[in-house]
Amino acid sequence: MELRGEKIVLRPMTLKGRYQFYRWATKSDAAPYWYGELYGDDVPSYVVFKHEFPDYYFDGSSIQKGRAFVIYKGDEKIGQINYNEIEERDHSVELDILIASQKYQNKGLGTDAIKTLLNYLFNKMAIRRCRIEVISKNPRAEKAFQKAGFAKIYTYIRKGIVWVVMECLSPTSKEVIKAETSTKKNNFHNL
Ligand SMILES: CC(C)(COP(=O)(O)OP(=O)(O)OC[C@H]1O[C@@H](n2cnc3c(N)ncnc32)[C@H](O)[C@@H]1OP(=O)(O)O)[C@@H](O)C(=O)NCCC(=O)NCCS
Repeated sequence: MELRGEKIVLRPMTLKGRYQFYRWATKSDAAPYWYGELYGDDVPSYVVFKHEFPDYYFDGSSIQKGRAFVIYKGDEKIGQINYNEIEERDHSVELDILIASQKYQNKGLGTDAIKTLLNYLFNKMAIRRCRIEVISKNPRAEKAFQKAGFAKIYTYIRKGIVWVVMECLSPTSKEVIKAETSTKKNNFHNL
């Protein structure tokens, strides 16, 4: 499987790629935005990381529980994007992303990767709502998600850290909400 964006291509990450993903998440230009000081927590060991990202993210054995993809720019592996466990109740899911090197950040590649995964989730996995939580000290991530179609829903504070919650609805969900809103308006006018 290959998911083509305008500037990047996403390919499913295999088990062999998990250690590189770990290195990116813990020892790259992207690492401070994944773990550590900003979040007031520890950088995980590989054993702990494997717990957070079990085999099914990499072998496709349980696509409802999560899947990781390598982001390619040409032949080069520049980062990863994943979705987590799909919430069956409302067909929603959360995403994570990193572009490992500064060399490839701020070039629209992250935005393109997010749009490409959204397209797949909405059209092939019947997802209706994608959600992310971004630390307020990461305005670049907020901007990239916004450019990919996410809107800020609310902010909250946990252990002194301000989190921005954003979501993106599938085109079908947006149509349903539009139709419901217009029916409600019409009913109101007919009272
Ligand atoms: C977040 C990330 C995936 C975004 O991907 P990217 O390719 O770097 O981002 P893009 O170039 O698509 O978009 C970034 C936008 O933020 C803007 N930006 C950069 N720094 C900014 C800042 N400090 N404040 C506000 N906006 C900023 C850029 O100018 C750009 O907007 P523009 O296209 O309108 O100029 C990538 O930077 C990354 O991996 N960061 C480290 C890991 C991370 O933060 N992961 C997300 C955790 S939720």
